Amino acid sequence: MAMESKPSGALSKRLENVPASVMFEFADRIRVLQEQGINITDLSLGQPEVPAPGHIARALQRALEKPILSYTSAAGSQELRSLIANKLSQESGREVTVSQVIVTCGSKHALFITLLSLLDPGDEIIVHEPYFPPYAEIAGLTGAKLTTVPVAVNSETGFSLDVDEMIAAVTSKTKVILVNYPNNPAGWTLDGGKIKRLADFCMSRGIYFVSDEIYDKIVFDGKVHTHAWEYSDQSRHVIELGSFSKTYSMVPYRLGFIVAKDGVCSELLKTQRATITMVSPYIQAAGSAALKGPQDFVAQRLRKYEERRDKCVELLSKQNIRVAKPEGAFYLFVKMPDKVNVAKFALDFLEEEHIALLPGEIFGIRWRNYVRMSFATPDENLYPAIERFSKRYGN
Ligand SMILES: Cc1ncc(COP(=O)(O)O)c(C=O)c1O
Repeated sequence: MAMESKPSGALSKRLENVPASVMFEFADRIRVLQEQGINITDLSLGQPEVPAPGHIARALQRALEKPILSYTSAAGSQELRSLIANKLSQESGREVTVSQVIVTCGSKHALFITLLSLLDPGDEIIVHEPYFPPYAEIAGLTGAKLTTVPVAVNSETGFSLDVDEMIAAVTSKTKVILVNYPNNPAGWTLDGGKIKRLADFCMSRGIYFVSDEIYDKIVFDGKVHTHAWEYSDQSRHVIELGSFSKTYSMVPYRLGFIVAKDGVCSELLKTQRATITMVSPYIQAAGSAALKGPQDFVAQRLRKYEERRDKCVELLSKQNIRVAKPEGAFYLFVKMPDKVNVAKFALDFLEEEHIALLPGEIFGIRWRNYVRMSFATPDENLYPAIERFSKRYGN
């Protein structure tokens, strides 16, 4: 007679490796205050404050008018993949073919697919700290060990990634090195020399170099972003992730992509099929419109972010608050005086001033003395908030 197993109610061991998402807990508190009718100036979330350009929304509406009755390709539509391939071929100077592109539900999902497909329990993944919090959550789900390497801080030049320290953290179990540049939250970016060194090292050691470049169009001071793909050579070890969220204000559309060599793509597609099947073809039509259409929105946004970066740094420095000038993305990562309990400061600031910013520990415990503020916030809310912050700084 078959034994009846008693359900214990326990959830998977894998979930025990996933840190609680403090970022979303904070977001929930903001929502509760907003539901009470309180007007919150929200510098905590990384999303553009304007909607996607009209031609993108209209492309979605038009697509909806022509119903599609079947599942479509798991990798994405031929049109969108070829537009992404053209974009990256042009920008990196290294050819990308359509078969090397997978369209995903945002770049977070691209990251999930990539890490779940690459990592086994017991493997190690190295990432810089501070880092985008879902890196730890997704690594936790795979059962791999996350090793973090702190970025360097210099009071004159700001934050920078020491590639040699990343390399020094490699062990025989390291399977992935993950970098994000331009960086959320610290605003540093990488030049070709550093990217090449990391890519060459990874390729020579058979380690996967996963590069999260979702802020590739938000690089300041006239600099041009260098893609990791440029250094991918014939090797299967470079994987680049991108997104429509920040560049085209398409956060709620959930659209991103993975670019990897053919043999890797065909494997990653197994995880795509096992999870979402494919990205909605309607949303993909909007993505095609974004890449095919006028790009002046992207340039305007960049100018706006750069103007705000400069003004915020100026406002803070007038109050003797030093902050590294971000080279890209749209965040200020500000060191608070040592005596301040920053998690409490952020909560009090929210409750009393109705301004939300994020405590640095969300991006790695070593950064508990920092706060992150997003300047993807309308000027009329942003500048008064920075002034309120300056007044309370240190208290
Ligand atoms: C570094 C980084 N990677 C990935 C993401 C995820 O973006 P999405 O899933 O909207 O493409 C974000 C969002 O803030 C981010 O900052």
